[in-house]
Amino acid sequence: MSKLTAVLTSQVGRKLLTGLTGLGLTFFVIGHLLGNLQLLIGADKFNKYAHNLESLGPILWVIEIALVAVFAIHAVIGVSIYKKKKKARPVEYNVYNSAGKPSYQTSSSKSMIVTGTILLVFLIMHVATLKFGIGLPHYTTVVDGVEMKDLYRNVYEIFQNPLIVALYVSVMILLGLHLRHGVWSSVQSLGALNTKYRPTVYTLGVVLAVALAIGFLVLPVWLYIYGITKGAM
Ligand code: HEM
Repeated sequence: MSKLTAVLTSQVGRKLLTGLTGLGLTFFVIGHLLGNLQLLIGADKFNKYAHNLESLGPILWVIEIALVAVFAIHAVIGVSIYKKKKKARPVEYNVYNSAGKPSYQTSSSKSMIVTGTILLVFLIMHVATLKFGIGLPHYTTVVDGVEMKDLYRNVYEIFQNPLIVALYVSVMILLGLHLRHGVWSSVQSLGALNTKYRPTVYTLGVVLAVALAIGFLVLPVWLYIYGITKGAM
């Protein structure tokens, strides 16, 4: 076994890898939200943004392959850390009391495996539909004289179904819970925290998690309400 493999498969190496991949995914989620917020501005703005991304061609494929690899590493190592912990303490406590401030153990930290698994299932369905268009009609539109995919219309139509809106809102709350522990824990795993900065980084992590969850869940709710008001006019 090479030195690098030994480090990466060790307990410390795995924590380091979940931390690094977790932070990478957090940056992706921030970027994805900023892009998607253009749904609130209007169809042309959002379609142009999606078209510009698509026009990156091979550069986008490389980014997407890297993203899949990062998601996969994060999920596989996350499960292995969970299994190791479970082995170390096979019987759960009947009553869980938060350990309080210095330990930062919360219901979020205890449910990472559950929220992570639900997010993974959501992601597979989300990418299959919105990225690959499975089960969705292929619409086109013309913006500034350029013909492009009308992705806005797909997203808008999906969010006219209240069940899908409810599903997205629920998953975005779980995303917030996952990030509430995940952001802080990632920074901590990278060894970047001494006890002095821990409370500040923890609070910043919570604020970021709440902001991202609210930012995302506003989108389906907004498009649903917009659809109702448009239909009523
Ligand atoms: C209301 C919330 C969301 C909306 C409206 C939304 C919208 C979209 C759209 C329209 C696409 C297709 C982009 C394209 O083909 O150019 C997409 C792709 C994607 N979304 Fe989301 N998204 C949401 C939440 C999320 C969340 C929370 C995650 C991650 C945890 C996520 C991860 C992804 C990924 C990985 C892709 C594929 C990106 C690519 O390969 O280019 N999305 N999303």
